[in-house]
Formats: sequence, C-alpha cells, structure tokens
Amino acid sequence: MKIAIIGINGKMGREVANILKENNYDFFGISKEDDFSIYKNADILIEFTNSQANFEHIKIVLNEPRKYIIGTTGFSQEQLELIKELSKKTAVFLSYNFSYGLNVLLKIIPELYKRLLDYDIALYEIHHKQKKDKPSGTAKMILEKLKEVNNNLNVEIGSFRIGGVFGEHVLLFSNEGEVIEIKHKALSRKVFAIGVLKAIEFIKDKEIGFFTMSDLI
Ligand SMILES: NC(=O)c1ccc[n+]([C@@H]2O[C@H](COP(=O)([O-])OP(=O)(O)OC[C@H]3O[C@@H](n4cnc5c(N)ncnc54)[C@H](OP(=O)(O)O)[C@@H]3O)[C@@H](O)[C@H]2O)c1
Repeated sequence: MKIAIIGINGKMGREVANILKENNYDFFGISKEDDFSIYKNADILIEFTNSQANFEHIKIVLNEPRKYIIGTTGFSQEQLELIKELSKKTAVFLSYNFSYGLNVLLKIIPELYKRLLDYDIALYEIHHKQKKDKPSGTAKMILEKLKEVNNNLNVEIGSFRIGGVFGEHVLLFSNEGEVIEIKHKALSRKVFAIGVLKAIEFIKDKEIGFFTMSDLI
C-alpha cells in the first residue's frame, strides 16, 4: 500500500509525514512544484492544502480515482458536491477535524442540547494567525450538530486568530443561574495526524463510499 501526501511541505503535511515514518508506512510527498499526475503511483491520497487547490486535484482524480483522505477545510457547497461525486467511484474520507476526542464530543452535543433547549448558547473558536478559513470547519460542524436538534437556532460563531494556537473550540450553555462550558483544545498538530492514521486503516479495505470520523467512531 503506497500513500501520497499532497501538501507535504505544509504544517499538517509534515506532521502526517512524521507519523507515517514513525509507523513504517510507504509514502511519498506531492508539493506545488511537482507534476500532480504522480498521484497515480499511490493507492491512497492524503491532502492538507487549501480548498481551491484540493478542488482542482479532485477534478483530476475523478478521471483516474484513488482512495482519498481529505483534511483540507473551507470547501464551498459546489466543491463538496464534487467530493460526493468522487465517492461514487472510490472511497473518500473527509474530516474537518481528525481529533478523535473532538469527534466523540460531536456525537454527544445533540444529546446535551436536547436537555438544554431553553439555555442561551455561545460558540467560538481560536486558531493561529496563518489559518485561512473563518469560521473553522470544526465550529461549523458543532453548529450543524446543534441545528440537528433545533433548525431555527441563530448563533453567530466567534472566530479569533492569535499566535500559534493549534485549535480551540468552546461551546457555552447558560441560563440565569449557571454556565456550562464545553471546551476542546488541541495540544499539538499530532492529534490530527493520529486521526489520519486511523482513517488510513479504516479506508484501506473500502472500495467506494463517503466516510467521516463519525463512521470511524
Ligand atoms: N482536518 C483537520 O483535522 C485539520 C487540521 C489542521 C489543519 N487543517 C486544514 O488543512 C489545510 C492545511 O493546513 P496547514 O496548517 O497544513 O496549512 P499550510 O501550512 O499552509 O500548508 C498547506 C500546504 O499546501 C501547499 N499547497 C498549496 N497548493 C498546493 C498544490 N496545488 N499542490 C500541493 N501543495 C499545495 C502549500 O504550499 P505553499 O505554502 O507553497 O502555497 C502549503 O505547503 C487547511 O485547510 C487547514 O484548515 C485540517
């Protein structure tokens, strides 16, 4: 099984390369300077770039599909539809957050909210200054989970870009008498790389379909 990391020179690309090396996976990198057609030498593609570059790559891969683990964030609806199109031809694993713990939290949020329907809600995220998309894909996922319970919910996501924060998400429920604070903090980028390893093991025997961390958990 050969793996290609697209965006190998980026922060996440390097982190994924480190963990694949540590675990003796056979892989190579694809950077902006490479001829993208070398992707065909891989059985599984992993991509952490930006939504536009990733979208262009998906258009190419549609013609000669390979299993695809997508970690890039900030896709538009149109771009997401193309990703779904690809998943009719091969196995696609998409996650805006590869942290296992955060995804367990996502499962629990609707259960919690069902019991706190009359509480006020606040949601905010903090990331490093280089992060391009705003609000984060993870904050949007948290909001989607809340909307599964109450589709009329109107909450504005707060976004802060400071220093080198790897990723912090805070969800608050409050009434007159109390505040419940749910906070997830990534301690390093390794947490996402560990999730990518789980995704590789999950996807390697799948032929077709669209998968997320929710399927893995
Ligand atoms: N799903 C998750 O768990 C998770 C976790 C962290 C980050 N992310 C997301 O992952 C993406 C990357 O984050 P990052 O922090 O690693 O950003 P980054 O450090 O800016 O890395 C992105 C890399 O992609 C490269 N790139 C751009 N276009 C390319 C192309 N056509 N072919 C190959 N490489 C290309 C960039 O090269 P240049 O610098 O030369 O343009 C850069 O090296 C973002 O969307 C971020 O939000 C997701």
